[in-house]
Amino acid sequence: MRVLLTGAAGQLGQALMAARPAGVTVIPSSRGGGNGHTQLDLADPLACRSLVLEQRPDAVINAGAYTSVDRAEKEPALAQAVNAEAPAAFVEALSKTGGQLLQLSTDFVFNGRQGSPYAPEQHVDPLGVYGVSKAAGESAALELPGGRVLRTSWVYGPVGRNFCLRMLQLHREKLKIEVVADQVGCPTATHTLAAACWQALKLVGDVGMTPLPRLMHWSDAGAASWYDFALAIGEVGVELGLLHEAALVRPITSSDYLTRACRPSYSLLDCTSTRALLDIEPIHWRLALRRVLKSLAYSRTILKSK
Ligand SMILES: NC(=O)c1ccc[n+]([C@@H]2O[C@H](COP(=O)([O-])OP(=O)(O)OC[C@H]3O[C@@H](n4cnc5c(N)ncnc54)[C@H](OP(=O)(O)O)[C@@H]3O)[C@@H](O)[C@H]2O)c1
Repeated sequence: MRVLLTGAAGQLGQALMAARPAGVTVIPSSRGGGNGHTQLDLADPLACRSLVLEQRPDAVINAGAYTSVDRAEKEPALAQAVNAEAPAAFVEALSKTGGQLLQLSTDFVFNGRQGSPYAPEQHVDPLGVYGVSKAAGESAALELPGGRVLRTSWVYGPVGRNFCLRMLQLHREKLKIEVVADQVGCPTATHTLAAACWQALKLVGDVGMTPLPRLMHWSDAGAASWYDFALAIGEVGVELGLLHEAALVRPITSSDYLTRACRPSYSLLDCTSTRALLDIEPIHWRLALRRVLKSLAYSRTILKSK
């Protein structure tokens, strides 16, 4: 199976590359190219179409995205081009070549007002430009009969720009950190998400399997506020020797921490049906966090010993 991967330099893209299954050839692409990646600007729909027509992959995993939630409020056209027009361009080309599409999406397509986990088929109602652009990308992906959307939430891992790495840095630098405690969701580690993506693609390819639903939800298990997550990062970071001591984490409300984009206050994804179909036992987000921080501690030891 040949898979064209976008966003190969992103945090999920790197985890997908690291976990690629035997028998799968990945064509990694990124905005900058280099490092063995094909150069692809997702803001250029013509380039997206041409690459698919030229490579004729069995599937595209579209992990590349405009992910800066606040900056998107100032750059709506660019967010829309990358998050909505690129998947539409992939769909146009894949409908000619006959390939599948796995489109990554986000809990931020929901408004967060219902106060209970969102099922995959529920109505979307994004609060900001990022969510609007991702919802448009979902609709585009679903135009392809072999198009599927996998929504996830609060993604972090040992590389890239994410809340976990930022908090580790703040725990090191500060005595006290203030973190929002009235937004609830679920942190999702890139290694568990990558495994779910590959499993989804495998099931799509397996002849005779129950067809996978078009909309799927994947996050690690449990629920947390950003405050809970920041606290756990400090605790586990100290346990694993990544931090001498944790900073004091103080809970604040969203109204104390104003951001350009509005965020859903409760965006937990109901992953029950997807987990059953993918046949993957979820792990609690705290266990996934431990594994991510362990891998960081391990790479630090290796670096020191060199
Ligand atoms: N991060 C989260 O918390 C989160 C939550 C829910 C869902 N998701 C979804 O999960 C998927 C993976 O996200 P991630 O966490 O891996 O994000 P990420 O680390 O920000 O990776 C996204 C990648 O897309 C690339 N990209 C942005 N604009 C591009 C363009 N014009 N052309 C080519 N590449 C471009 C970025 O390249 P540069 O490095 O050059 O900018 C980056 O490597 C995305 O679909 C995202 O919407 C993420």
